[in-house]
Amino acid sequence: MQKIIFGNWKMNLSDEGAVALAKSITTVRIDASFVRIGVLPSFTALAAVGETLRGSAVALGAQDCFWETAGAYTGEISPTQLKKLGCTHVLIGHSERRQYLGETDDMINRKVRAALAADLTPVLCIGETDDARRRGLWSNVIADQTTKGLSGIELIGTQSIIVAYEPIWAVGTGRACAPEDAREAHALVMNALIEQFGPSVAKNNFRIIYGGSVDAKNIGSYLGEEGIDGALVGGASQHSPSFVELIVAAQK
Ligand code: PGA
Repeated sequence: MQKIIFGNWKMNLSDEGAVALAKSITTVRIDASFVRIGVLPSFTALAAVGETLRGSAVALGAQDCFWETAGAYTGEISPTQLKKLGCTHVLIGHSERRQYLGETDDMINRKVRAALAADLTPVLCIGETDDARRRGLWSNVIADQTTKGLSGIELIGTQSIIVAYEPIWAVGTGRACAPEDAREAHALVMNALIEQFGPSVAKNNFRIIYGGSVDAKNIGSYLGEEGIDGALVGGASQHSPSFVELIVAAQK
């Protein structure tokens, strides 16, 4: 099945820099039967990057959305607005938002529902802290975040959700999770999905990707693991040579 590689550009890159990076990605050979590439620029760059990617195989996504469609919500951006800009995906509940903005599982759940209603594919981020891993609580944390983030959700037809397992201690640290540990975590997520949605929906409508210090050197070791459907890449996706190398490496 097609692997997914999404670049999370976070609050980095100027709009011009984002367009230039998007341009360089469109020059890479992408075998769409094997890999799905996407980029998640800042809101300010979405329109221009979308224009640059038009007609290419590269997907456009946002890093967050609000849970309402319109109204008096100063500073927020709705999933419908993102859809109009050409987004197909939206990241929800990234650990940096949970940490710095106080996003709760309940808020995240509302965002996932709103994204689906606007015909966007949510990329729900989950993952344990270093402390939770050391105390042996990591499996509870990831099952809990998965279940709460997806609470009450029913998928209709071909609607799909991507779950990104991103252990917080591996994000932006250079301490990538060992591929076999990531595989174990993905299996736990899949079990939680099966319990909630049944085996058929869990296997057909969900993909589980890994994130945390992924680069061109280690991408192959994740993609080779059973149950790892791709990667969410931060730092290594924010520069042309490293992201291009990673996309090439992912197709080897
Ligand atoms: P990283 O970030 O690749 O820099 O660790 C991943 C992410 O935050 O999605």
